[in-house]
Amino acid sequence: MERWRREQVFHDRQAWERATDQRRRGRSLAFDDDTYLDHETWVRPALARLGNVSGRPVLDFGCGHGMAAVVLARRGARVTAFDLSHGYLDEARNRARQNHVAIDFVRADGERLPFADQAFEAIWGSAILHHLDLATAGPELRRVLRPGGVAVFCEPWGENALLNWARRSLPYPEKGRTPDEQPLDQMHVRQLRAIFAGVEIQGCQLLGMARRVLKNSRLLSGLDWCDRQLLARVPRLERYCRYVVVTLRR
Ligand SMILES: C[S@@+](CC[C@H](N)C(=O)[O-])C[C@H]1O[C@@H](n2cnc3c(N)ncnc32)[C@H](O)[C@@H]1O
Repeated sequence: MERWRREQVFHDRQAWERATDQRRRGRSLAFDDDTYLDHETWVRPALARLGNVSGRPVLDFGCGHGMAAVVLARRGARVTAFDLSHGYLDEARNRARQNHVAIDFVRADGERLPFADQAFEAIWGSAILHHLDLATAGPELRRVLRPGGVAVFCEPWGENALLNWARRSLPYPEKGRTPDEQPLDQMHVRQLRAIFAGVEIQGCQLLGMARRVLKNSRLLSGLDWCDRQLLARVPRLERYCRYVVVTLRR
């Protein structure tokens, strides 16, 4: 089976499980922006890197459940959102409807984009680049971004050997992984640097990654504070972080 097909089968199944759970609980898909922006520590500052999106054509790259697309549409962006999974697109369409925003949803493969050259001024992606072959997806991403435009991606980072071991070996909630996905590492950064004029990598959650097992909010705020101090003073510690925010400019 090809990579894109394995990804689609996996995510359609995951979306079907989510839809079954949502139906059983009778949950609405309406949400406020803070719910999305604060669900991980990197999301709010990363989205801010897109700047003022009002009136601008913005792409949600691998939109999954579509929450980012809805937040961007509520900020006035003209949003196109795509994903490979029919199931996730169904959820994202329902979410847009229940939140009363208009979004152009498209089923597409991130390695073969069905959009015109320079179609977007800003591109957002969360946990998607690490599902793709960047040698193919990178040039496509650059092609659809306007000169002067910005693309921001939040991705798992794979340079911490201990964390990689934990990802492989320890049981924890929401662990489901596709056989092809691979946290980004320096090799991927080199690939992106060969394609984009500007590539900035910012590490997120060093000690703060303890939130995967600890739930004490005061303790976690303290760890986040320590991370801010440590990463500002010793930037090479970013290598050991859980996630990175990748900012790409043409
Ligand atoms: C980990 S989920 C992230 C979804 C969403 N961006 C989020 O923030 O939750 C990865 C998403 O990428 C999609 N995906 C995987 N491979 C893809 C491809 N080649 N083209 C388009 N979407 C793909 C999956 O269907 C899934 O919705």
